[in-house]
Amino acid sequence: MKGNELKRRYIEFFKKKGHKEIRNSSLIPENDPTVLFTTAGMHPLVPYLLGQKHPLGKRLVNIQRCIRTGDIDDVGDDVHLTFFEMLGNWSLGDYFKKEAIEMSFEFLTKELNIPIEKLAITCFVGDKNADKDEESAEVWKKLGISSKRIIFLGKEDNWWGPAGTTGPCGPDTEMFYWAGDEKAPEQFNPGDSRWVEIWNDVFMQYNKLQNGKLESLKQKNVDTGMGVERTAMLLQGKKNVFETDLFLPILKTIRHLSRKDDIKAERIIADHIKTSVFILNEKIVPSNLGHGYVLRRLIRRASRYARLIDLDKDGLNEVAKKVIEIYRETYDGLKKKELFILDELKKENEKFEKTLTSGLRIFEKEISKLDGKELSGKIAFVLFTSYGFPLEMTIELAEEKGFRVEEETFWEEYKRHQDLSRQATKGVFKSGLADNSEEVTQYHTVTHLLLQALKNNLSHDIEQRGSNITKERIRFDFNFDRKLTDEEKKKIEDEVNEKINAHLDVKSEEMSLGDARKSGASGIFEERYGNVVSVYTIGRYSKEICTGPHVENTKNIKGKFRIVKEESSSAGIRRIKGILEK
Ligand code: ALA
Repeated sequence: MKGNELKRRYIEFFKKKGHKEIRNSSLIPENDPTVLFTTAGMHPLVPYLLGQKHPLGKRLVNIQRCIRTGDIDDVGDDVHLTFFEMLGNWSLGDYFKKEAIEMSFEFLTKELNIPIEKLAITCFVGDKNADKDEESAEVWKKLGISSKRIIFLGKEDNWWGPAGTTGPCGPDTEMFYWAGDEKAPEQFNPGDSRWVEIWNDVFMQYNKLQNGKLESLKQKNVDTGMGVERTAMLLQGKKNVFETDLFLPILKTIRHLSRKDDIKAERIIADHIKTSVFILNEKIVPSNLGHGYVLRRLIRRASRYARLIDLDKDGLNEVAKKVIEIYRETYDGLKKKELFILDELKKENEKFEKTLTSGLRIFEKEISKLDGKELSGKIAFVLFTSYGFPLEMTIELAEEKGFRVEEETFWEEYKRHQDLSRQATKGVFKSGLADNSEEVTQYHTVTHLLLQALKNNLSHDIEQRGSNITKERIRFDFNFDRKLTDEEKKKIEDEVNEKINAHLDVKSEEMSLGDARKSGASGIFEERYGNVVSVYTIGRYSKEICTGPHVENTKNIKGKFRIVKEESSSAGIRRIKGILEK
């Protein structure tokens, strides 16, 4: 079964079971200070798992593009990828264990025709916080799974979430598929790599708090995730994800354009360029900060491996074209942004190629001079600043030769160079999730006030063109073609503060998208919403389509709003950075 067919069937199956399809969200989580990329289908649903009402109801399904850069060093083996698609279905306080498992079982055995003899299951063994999940195991047994194929494991294996430090989480039950050539053994052994995990049903009934305690959620939810590439691999009888229809054409392009064979290098190039294409599709460009740094690291790593197999000069761009060809039907933005994507990729690759040879020479020379087993952080820093070697690349190069990099000095040097942020390079590969903290929620409501103040003081044509919120500040992009005067900025700040001080109620209402438009609600991201949307009003001042969360009353916004920066973000787009001063 082709990858696209699997996706189509999944969505159709759950629609028949009363689920509404939600959009495949951006890879850059909105209003989320703790993660760089969407790593699972549940990210955009956190407020709803915590109890907020979803405009489309209690049963949802989708295909979500995800990036998990935590696995970057494993790419090259049979199953690890940095970009993948996740199929998911959710119950927001609706069905729970029994129905979720029954639906999973039906999809696997009836829709995908997987023989029951090839399935095995893990369930949560229990600990001081939560009981052993006998209930799930019983449901599996009733469906015909033998007890020898059901294993109970601890928290490391059968507990999912929170994705970050706080948020929804719970025990899970995981489904495994026998990929071996011989008959599946009667007794399931999850340590045998021929058993491949394909699907995870998480029973999210807890909320992990800042102090580490678990509290019961208002509602019992189900969050599931099935990896498209892995499942396609098994359904297509392949031994690795790179041989599936989602990858083979990319691999073939690489083989065609290179002069040396090296499976690991080919796989790394295929994976990293695919992920880079999807990051570029979010209009992110390579840089030394945040998302841009991840992108830079991926492109440069691909570039280094391209050299190892002697890939053609424009080879990486040809690979990117293949990626776009495979995915353009699902992601129509890719086609529109093809030129931008190819151009940025080429520029970054050319920039790096200029310094790669000389950087490698320096690296080799330093390694040959070493007495001990450690390359100094100072050298790593020179390679970073003068030759564009991401630290991780130097570490990888050193490891290949049996050396370590002394990272502390690297970071000391790094700190001394204030124009670079440590956060950009360290910690960005972790996954995590917004905690919907009070600060972020307050700032979120402030962005609504700011948009209205911009409209009132500058032009009613102003629309939001992007927003990013952390616990410390907001960053807000909008269409306007010139710099704001000091007087204008002051008026805008004053108006926002006046509304904060007016103690206005914030209310949300669900309505059809058409009604929302008619009511004059702002919201430019129509394609992101379903037919029913939530509209947030702040007193009589502002009205916006939004998914929340927001404060209940503007009196809960603590501090005085101040614009700390106003600058151009790109042609015709201005960017405001604002804070709440305590
Ligand atoms: N959120 C769960 C996962 O990523 C389903 O496995």
